Amino acid sequence: MSTARRALVAGNWKMYKDRAAAKATALALRETLGSCEIPEVAVFPPFPFLADVSEALHGSAISLGAQDLHPGKEGAFTGEVSGWMLRSVGCRWVIVGHSERRHQLGETDEVVARKLRAALESGLDPILCVGETLQERERRDTERVIERQIESAFHGVGTSRGQVTIAYEPVWAIGTGRNATPEQASEVHKRIRDWSEDARVRVLYGGSVKPENVGALAKAPEIDGVLVGGASLEVSSFARLVAAFKSRD
Ligand code: 13P
Repeated sequence: MSTARRALVAGNWKMYKDRAAAKATALALRETLGSCEIPEVAVFPPFPFLADVSEALHGSAISLGAQDLHPGKEGAFTGEVSGWMLRSVGCRWVIVGHSERRHQLGETDEVVARKLRAALESGLDPILCVGETLQERERRDTERVIERQIESAFHGVGTSRGQVTIAYEPVWAIGTGRNATPEQASEVHKRIRDWSEDARVRVLYGGSVKPENVGALAKAPEIDGVLVGGASLEVSSFARLVAAFKSRD
């Protein structure tokens, strides 16, 4: 890779797997990718399996993340989990502002901003998700929407913004089998880097990344890695995504 940014291949398991499957997947990942340093590899299991997966991956190069966090440290917030708790089970990463939370669970830009700050304050490395809907793209609103999502999330985040990874996940590409082309993603990634005002910020692409299309995405220098849903659930397909980023370095 030509830049100093190390590629990251991140698997978002969403609300899939039971405890036994989560453990088995983590152990198989460790076996296959446990010593992989380039690219960086991270997995994001559901909350109840974090501790088991943490134990299974302990001492390997694969790092652990959570799919969400509450903006506070502790308190009377039934059902919520804080960044501090995530750290205590071995998480390094946390996803903030995934479009499934924004669009299906009503998470606003303001809530996303509070979560981003909480993640940084608790010492987690956040992956901030941004992306336009199909309607917004068709209205040619992509840049305006993403600029708003980044500016609002970064409000009040000073020098630590270099610690943030941004995932460009167009909503129309998530789980649809229709990925953005490397050209479409690169165009947005370039703008995201400008708006972030920090050359250290990594920009991942997410949305229907599969072994069949990852080669072309991995060749694009603006794409610093991928955030993957469906194709991260099986070790064999996830390993092929990792291999694509290894071979470009
Ligand atoms: P898919 O890879 O299943 O399209 O999901 C992408 C995603 O939402 C990752 O966070």
